[in-house]
Amino acid sequence: MIRVEDIVVSFSLGGGQEHMVLNKLSLEVERGQTVSIIGSNGAGKSTLLNAVAGTVPVRAGKIFLDSRDVTALPEWQRALYVGRVRQDPLAGTAGDMTVLDNLALAARKGPRRFRLATPHRFVREMEGKVAQLGMGLEQRLKENVSRLSGGQRQALTLLMAVLSQPSVLLLDEHTAALDPANAEMVGGLTRKFIAEFELTALIVTHDMKRALEQATRIVMMHEGEIIADLSGAEKEKMDVAGLVRLFKRARGAEYAEDRDLLS
Ligand SMILES: Nc1ncnc2c1ncn2[C@@H]1O[C@H](COP(=O)(O)OP(=O)(O)OP(=O)(O)O)[C@@H](O)[C@H]1O
Ligand SMILES: [Mg+2]
Repeated sequence: MIRVEDIVVSFSLGGGQEHMVLNKLSLEVERGQTVSIIGSNGAGKSTLLNAVAGTVPVRAGKIFLDSRDVTALPEWQRALYVGRVRQDPLAGTAGDMTVLDNLALAARKGPRRFRLATPHRFVREMEGKVAQLGMGLEQRLKENVSRLSGGQRQALTLLMAVLSQPSVLLLDEHTAALDPANAEMVGGLTRKFIAEFELTALIVTHDMKRALEQATRIVMMHEGEIIADLSGAEKEKMDVAGLVRLFKRARGAEYAEDRDLLS
């Protein structure tokens, strides 16, 4: 469960000026729910995820993860509850370490059975996990991650993020830097892991089709505010064209087009 209550995030512009990015934003996501977050560039989507993960401080408001008030916890303490994958396939793994060592790092914040496993048992468990990715990486556990492709690295990062069975999974355009085939593959893995671990997930994407497919709820942001929150029947009957229309309306583009048509 994620509960964001009236959070305020602003960045200093110098000279005493502040850029207000999120102004009293609230969002509640129930346990096990997947929410797609869409919206224009600069809308504040990454900032919202950063606030939940503790990467950026909030000036006001509160953040709860599984009913725990984590507002005052620093990022490294919140990391116990948060799994994250970002856009850059190089960001989530250490390239100069082996696949196995990267997994061992991720497992250290995970369930006890991983932490207490003997090296031999740990390797066997990880072989099984990595085999689920369907990329043959179980044969390459001793290779440095820098030798993997972007798609392979992103799939590994996703596995590392869910290995700790986090309370929440935060994915920020995690398929955007991948070619269509790899994006499809990592998107499929995302759905599989979310279902398997019954995760609560926020997934930021600019891909409207994926946003509709991967989640039961869609939150649209614009200029730091939630301008649409679709779930249930409303979400089910929404399509890509409908989302684009909502977008245009938010940006005043529909009006501009109408005016163009009339002139
Ligand atoms: N660390 C920071 N310092 C100053 N300004 C920031 C910082 N992080 C974000 N911003 C500003 O906050 C606003 C929202 O940025 P954010 O990255 O959250 O947008 P976004 O919705 O993720 O956009 P995109 O779709 O382009 O990724 C932008 O105007 C951005 O310049
Ligand atoms: Mg962003």
